[in-house]
Amino acid sequence: MAEEQAQRDDGGGLATARDTLTVTDNRTGETYDIEVTDGTVRAMDFRQIKVAEDDFGLMTYDPAFMNTASCRSSICFIDGEAGVLEYRGYPIEQLCGQSTYLEVAYLLIYGELPTEEQLDEWVFEITHHTFVHENIKKFVEGFRYDAHPMGMLLATIGALSTFYPDAKNIDDTLERHMAAVRLIAKVPTLAAFAYRHNLGLPYVYPDNDLSYPGNFLSMMFKMTETKYEPDPRLERALDVLWILHADHEQNCSTNAVRGVGSSEVDPYSAMAAGVAALYGPLHGGANEQVVRMLERIESVENIPGFLERVKNREERLMGFGHRVYKNYDPRARIIKEHVDQVFAVTGRNPKLDIAVELEKRALDDEYFTSRKLYPNVDFYSGLIYEALNLPTDMFTVMFAIPRTSGWIAQWDEMLEDEETKIARPRQIYTGARTRDYTPIGERTQLTDKPTAETHLIDPAAG
Ligand code: CMC
Repeated sequence: MAEEQAQRDDGGGLATARDTLTVTDNRTGETYDIEVTDGTVRAMDFRQIKVAEDDFGLMTYDPAFMNTASCRSSICFIDGEAGVLEYRGYPIEQLCGQSTYLEVAYLLIYGELPTEEQLDEWVFEITHHTFVHENIKKFVEGFRYDAHPMGMLLATIGALSTFYPDAKNIDDTLERHMAAVRLIAKVPTLAAFAYRHNLGLPYVYPDNDLSYPGNFLSMMFKMTETKYEPDPRLERALDVLWILHADHEQNCSTNAVRGVGSSEVDPYSAMAAGVAALYGPLHGGANEQVVRMLERIESVENIPGFLERVKNREERLMGFGHRVYKNYDPRARIIKEHVDQVFAVTGRNPKLDIAVELEKRALDDEYFTSRKLYPNVDFYSGLIYEALNLPTDMFTVMFAIPRTSGWIAQWDEMLEDEETKIARPRQIYTGARTRDYTPIGERTQLTDKPTAETHLIDPAAG
């Protein structure tokens, strides 16, 4: 068995002794050689390890995918220990310094930087697909006045699949391209409509004369002026923020897009899954939580007490810590550099003083340094959004807009990957087995379910 495994050719030639892992099953005394490729063993190679012929075989158990690579990808590289982030090999610092969000979106999806001609065509396409069907507008109008904009975005992106039914032809590369263009073009429009809906303001249609971020600012903030003129400093800051948020390899929402997309559903439905995952407070919702946390801290004097509560696990230091970064998140560093530029336009936000002091004290504290907890992308982004006058509910939407390009790139890559199959993890079953059904009259109560009186009487709650 061991020799057979060592000889296995996986397309890359014969494995050498150095490229294998020798495993002895102490239950049977049997030894197996498992091939190591790219520092990884294949979980399926363990299935051959059995105690008996009818045994299912050994599985790996990895809740939360802490140590499992779910795909091969050439889109985004992160070195969490060194604090490095690259898109298609280009360092994030260079892209933020020299590129635009739309150019980066092209790079992520098509793999290389576009020529001038390609970029012009791409920008033209995106610009001319920013309008949404009028029925989408009516759909947004149907939400309650205080509906969370992420909930509205989730629903409207999902609804787009009904407007573009041909997008389900996912083997058609032109359909895939059109879905990419439509999603990148329309997500800012949907986001701005959700924002204006919350305020009871008329929706503003896209303006094709403006840049991608400039048009978004117009759809958000235009009032009675005939032509909205975005401040170029805000336009640039937004563009940089969007470059920073465009992709981040196999994070929770990208994993959701790949997982749902692996069922071969249309791209709009797969992206809606990404928005749903991003909505959560441990993922895209963290920037909102950072601002709420700074509000609770109230002043610099209260920071030591707050940090004590974090250490006693009564609070969590939002905007700190990351599953992959065990160093300063490079995105946080770039955002921090842009905070001052934004405040030069909007006026200083006093919460910045609390944030800067909070960061300093946490980075001086053994509790945080020993756990390698550093500021992440969300620590300062919320302050910029607040300076732009955005309500906290909109912060996660500001993350979803640029992440759309990363989700599309990852979804596309998944469809091209020969190893893609429907994502279907295994489980360790821990429940009862093969019980006889008890007739209702013979049962004793074994379970309690929560009951809320208000739900029974609130007609709006249904
Ligand atoms: N505040 C206080 N303690 C923390 C924090 C924090 N923000 N993050 C981690 N820890 C502690 C945690 O209690 C644990 O301590 P111990 O070993 O003593 O039990 C240790 O650090 C390891 O943490 P973990 O929860 O095992 O780490 P994880 O990789 O499962 O979680 C995380 C990563 C991002 C969910 C977590 O750090 C966190 O909740 N941070 C706050 C939320 C946040 O800022 N999220 C945005 C992430 S970046 C943008 C994005 O990806 O969406």
